[in-house]
Amino acid sequence: MIVRYPRIDYSKIRAHWAPNIAFAQLQNATSIIPGPVEPWLIKVLQKAMDFLPADKEKLREDMATFIGQESQHFRQHRMFNKVIAAQGYPALAGFEKQLADDLEGFCQNRSLKFMLAYADGFESLGAVQGGIWFGRMDKLIEGADPNAIALWKWHMAEEFEHREVCFQIYHALYSRGLWGKIWNGYFYRIYGCLYAMVHLWGYMGRMFSYMIQQDMLSMNAEEQAAFGRDIKALKRFQTRVFFPQLLKNFLPWYNPGRKPTPVGLFEYLREFEKRPQEAEA
Ligand SMILES: [Fe+2]
Ligand SMILES: [Fe+2]
Repeated sequence: MIVRYPRIDYSKIRAHWAPNIAFAQLQNATSIIPGPVEPWLIKVLQKAMDFLPADKEKLREDMATFIGQESQHFRQHRMFNKVIAAQGYPALAGFEKQLADDLEGFCQNRSLKFMLAYADGFESLGAVQGGIWFGRMDKLIEGADPNAIALWKWHMAEEFEHREVCFQIYHALYSRGLWGKIWNGYFYRIYGCLYAMVHLWGYMGRMFSYMIQQDMLSMNAEEQAAFGRDIKALKRFQTRVFFPQLLKNFLPWYNPGRKPTPVGLFEYLREFEKRPQEAEA
């Protein structure tokens, strides 16, 4: 695992950067999430570091790389989000602030165990997405803006790469002894995962609806009909591809480390490790 520093030009990306507008806008809504969540994740991990047993040296190293990767992710998403919000979506900043306040509330009022279970839930979504962005959503991204694709593929590939880190911290701290393995290792982990999903999907849903409402203001009947078809295609994709993969996260023997690596994922990441002159050649 290493930290990569992509150079992506967001300046010309349109909000409707994929032929399926519903897909593009769902990703745009999702892109708001890393801005508040990933800096918060970093804080939670820094806190957890103090409680990690002394023999977890490798995990400590992975946590440092994880923190480096996440700090690049949210910076890149903020640049992307700025370009999108300026195209007629000023209220996105309010949603982002509200989410940041919720997370700050967790720091004040909830336990480290809760925050790590939430963090693992968030990370398990990234691991699912990482698996899907490579080879399983080709139809949805065909003809889309390559710069937007680069942001998502790079981020989701790194999410796949560091998918085990939060899972391992959580287990190292709380999944000890038979009772700890059953209660914390399974039930409480699932609780954190469901909590994160409901919480974050709530925000994504509200932001998506807001963006779509803004779009609808300038759509004619034909465009609205095409948009309806986009929504249907997106729902079909979620039912057939995303949800079956997601359900695996709830199995008692779930271990993100055993997920098979999607073909081409690490080769793709290597492109972001090249020096600028190599990348241009
Ligand atoms: Fe990330
Ligand atoms: Fe992550």
